[in-house]
Amino acid sequence: MVKLLILYDSQTGNTEKMAQAVAEGARSVAGVDVDLKYYAEPKELAEADAILVGAPTYYHDITLPIKQVLEEAAKAGVKLQGKVGAAFGSYGWSGEAPKQVLEILKNRFGMKTVEPTIEVLYEPNQAKLDDCRKLGKRVAEGIVSQ
Ligand SMILES: Cc1cc2nc3c(=O)[nH]c(=O)nc-3n(C[C@H](O)[C@H](O)[C@H](O)COP(=O)(O)O)c2cc1C
Repeated sequence: MVKLLILYDSQTGNTEKMAQAVAEGARSVAGVDVDLKYYAEPKELAEADAILVGAPTYYHDITLPIKQVLEEAAKAGVKLQGKVGAAFGSYGWSGEAPKQVLEILKNRFGMKTVEPTIEVLYEPNQAKLDDCRKLGKRVAEGIVSQ
């Protein structure tokens, strides 16, 4: 069984809806253990084959809970090289966070990142939720066939 971790933050529920859709897509693939959570220990990141981060943009930045998980993992020396990483998130006007997360996953942790990131203006509509489902499914299929 391969492991796919969806780590997200969401203060008003918009990124959470995206994260749930990503999880739904990933769960449609057999042989993948999907974990959806807003906090993960370094060990859980180390055990995952793919990490998808749901990051809403606040003050042109990634929010603290997400930064905290990434910082703890970095400090613990967690090795994520070669694992699959992706990012998505809701925003209001600038929406930098998913790209900032992807940059960290790629350049700090050496992950294989999936592009493009998905950014949704405020609440995701059905089409955007479908994009999120497709992202989850695509990443899950990728790690199952590795
Ligand atoms: C205090 C505050 C600061 C925000 N800063 C930004 C920002 O810098 N750029 C942006 O695109 N959206 C910004 N937003 C909008 C949020 O990203 C948007 O409401 C998003 O849907 C929140 O996602 P969530 O429901 O997953 O928390 C801000 C919202 C609040 C309340």
